[in-house]
Amino acid sequence: MLPEYGRPVHELLAELAELKAGDLPVRGGKVTAYVYDTGRPEIHDAAHRAYAEMLEVNMLDPTAFPSMIALERQVVGAVAGLLGGDGGTPGIFTSGGTESIMLAVKAARDHWRAAGRSGSGAPGDAAGETGENGARGPQMVLPVTAHPAFHKAAHYLGVEVVPVPVDPVTFRVSVPAVEAAIGDRTVLVVVSAPSYPQGVVDPVAEVAALASSRGVPCHVDACVGGWLLPWLREAGAEIPAFDLSVPGVTSLSCDLHKFGYAPKGASVLLFKDAALRRRAYFASAAWPGYTIINATVQSSRSAGPLGGAWATLQSLGRDGYLELGRTTLEATRRLVEGVAAIPGLRVLGRPESSLVAIAAEQDGPGGTDGAIDVFVLADEARRRGWFLQPQLSYAGIPANLHITVTGVTLHGVEAMLEVIAESAEAARKAGPAVVPDGLPELIASVDLEALDDATFTELAASVGISLDGGGPKEMAVVNAVLDALPAAVRETVLVRFLSGIYS
Ligand SMILES: Cc1ncc(COP(=O)(O)O)c(C=O)c1O
Repeated sequence: MLPEYGRPVHELLAELAELKAGDLPVRGGKVTAYVYDTGRPEIHDAAHRAYAEMLEVNMLDPTAFPSMIALERQVVGAVAGLLGGDGGTPGIFTSGGTESIMLAVKAARDHWRAAGRSGSGAPGDAAGETGENGARGPQMVLPVTAHPAFHKAAHYLGVEVVPVPVDPVTFRVSVPAVEAAIGDRTVLVVVSAPSYPQGVVDPVAEVAALASSRGVPCHVDACVGGWLLPWLREAGAEIPAFDLSVPGVTSLSCDLHKFGYAPKGASVLLFKDAALRRRAYFASAAWPGYTIINATVQSSRSAGPLGGAWATLQSLGRDGYLELGRTTLEATRRLVEGVAAIPGLRVLGRPESSLVAIAAEQDGPGGTDGAIDVFVLADEARRRGWFLQPQLSYAGIPANLHITVTGVTLHGVEAMLEVIAESAEAARKAGPAVVPDGLPELIASVDLEALDDATFTELAASVGISLDGGGPKEMAVVNAVLDALPAAVRETVLVRFLSGIYS
């Protein structure tokens, strides 16, 4: 509610602090997803101050605020310099991985249209396509482990996803499957470096060469790994070639708000050439107001994130990132080795980055006698003050828990291992989460779109979820129910859930 009279700042800050008391902590390393902590408060402080300094600059019009051009050139140049480009590499500073991916897909789609492969040949003219996923419309070849941001881009931009499987042991995309999936309507082939779920790098060089031989652009999603893998490599890890220097790679996304440790709202999209970058841009003079030239999806946007990212890069420097890379690598090795020694648990694949997926030795959750239900394990860890991120089973990959190891993890890695071991033991004793009899079948059979709010709220309550905004602490049953549903039904449930908590 809008107050009748303005309130003093101390009161507002006190209220924010109170509201945040129920949040997961963003510092300290006990939350193993969403947040990236260097463990060096002075770095985050520098970023906050620069963020605030640039906060009111509007990136809508670079000619009005040339400071943003200078900063963006420096930030894009730094990313290009580390990832196989140079001072002349074209790039765009965006608000995050999803926006970078959206623009990469738009550029590829419009490149395909301009080449006349959509039937009409006219840029931006979808004539010849027979609807959103029409038989002649654009397609994108995507590993099943690729981030949902590509599905979102496909949905927004009218591109059909052609999913390709990954190897069940290494979790890397199958090159022959990519080859078989490429067709006349393929506008883009995607690989991840690494993919988020298991932290492994797809065979970038092979896939990019293949795409290039078929005249198709290849995007490397290095959103999570772009600003991590080079430092891990320098620290001694074996990292395959994945960047813009790999022949056939035409664009690459790298989020600075992940392993760049910048405040949220910071990603860079690089292009092999400026012509492809122009396909990501949007201009409009089709109204009587100011002229629109946008490099990003957003139009008016704060330069705060750009200032924050620039300051983080400048205050850490090469030396700072290399040191963070060293500690991250050491912590990851210790974590992988420690988890392997915990009875009943295993690490999926061989993580090449610092993203680790932990599954039950017998695939679960809890389906087999004596197996640890990883969702119960996550609740046990949460009770002990640690957040481990549940990942549902998908495409033959079992349910598991995700841990993103960051710069701050090393000092607490032994404590983390102790909590995982204790929680695993408690989960074994507790047994698997009990899914109410017939509930997944019931959910799958009802028309969720048609359900009224009261009935959906009741349904949610039956698995212990109240839609009052305070997230449930016990999630094992919820996760087990979701896990038992097909992906499309999971999606409908999640949309209903989101609309429920905001109503
Ligand atoms: C590999 C990968 N790509 C894309 C994204 C999406 O990034 P964002 O959440 O910044 O939109 C993520 C996020 O974790 C990711 O790990």
